[in-house]
Amino acid sequence: MNLTLKIWRQKGPKDAGKIVDYPVKDISPDMSFLEMLDVLNEELVNKGEEPVAFDHDCREGICGMCSLYINGEAHGPQRLVTTCQLHMRSFKDGETIYIEPWRAEAFPVIKDLVVDRSSFDRIIQAGGYISVNTGAAQDANNIPVPKADADKAFAAATCIGCGACVATCKNSSAMLFVSAKVSQLALLPQGQVEAEQRVLSMVKQMDEEGFGNCSNTGACEVECPKGISLENIARMNREFFSAAVMSEE
Ligand code: SF4
Ligand code: FES
Repeated sequence: MNLTLKIWRQKGPKDAGKIVDYPVKDISPDMSFLEMLDVLNEELVNKGEEPVAFDHDCREGICGMCSLYINGEAHGPQRLVTTCQLHMRSFKDGETIYIEPWRAEAFPVIKDLVVDRSSFDRIIQAGGYISVNTGAAQDANNIPVPKADADKAFAAATCIGCGACVATCKNSSAMLFVSAKVSQLALLPQGQVEAEQRVLSMVKQMDEEGFGNCSNTGACEVECPKGISLENIARMNREFFSAAVMSEE
């Protein structure tokens, strides 16, 4: 496949940045999107030019590091896959592909396609944990959990913190991510002890980081590579309002 890539290049956080055209030739349809970028970068390095900076780690859809906006869609045209799982067979020979970083005030660009997502880490640090001692795995399993709750908690826990929900949302809202992280603990008995403080702290931190609010458009759910449900946002809102009322008493 021969392609024209239109890639966002930005030297650093203060640089204005611009789209630069790069032709790439002989790309195998079986390559992943990131492998295609590796080919381009090898060519750039061989020519003595600066390679394109982009984030990646596991390349297996697990770590949540890859983060490209491809032809106007977070993680590209396929549903339920991350950029590292996207294959070039999803594109046509001769196609022009636009590649941009996540766009959100709370995700400032570091360089080219790499953005700073440490705001997510600070939200987790604010309350996304259980500090009660639940014992070893065997002991923890002594606490009965209804199957339906366990399934919902597991589904919420599949969020990999990639930030596609934020990048997709017209309000740059982080509520799908935060609600998944609240829900995975709120649904389990072990998570009840700190439930009120958790949701209050995480929502407070989310607001402080500059994320927008949810207006129920649902774009986040469509583009989420892990299929995290909007149901989690409804649960987080219920948890938040009840915790806010209790904390005022
Ligand atoms: S909710 Fe989905 S899109 Fe958002 S961070 Fe988690 S996995 Fe990524
Ligand atoms: S590189 Fe880890 S999810 Fe894509």
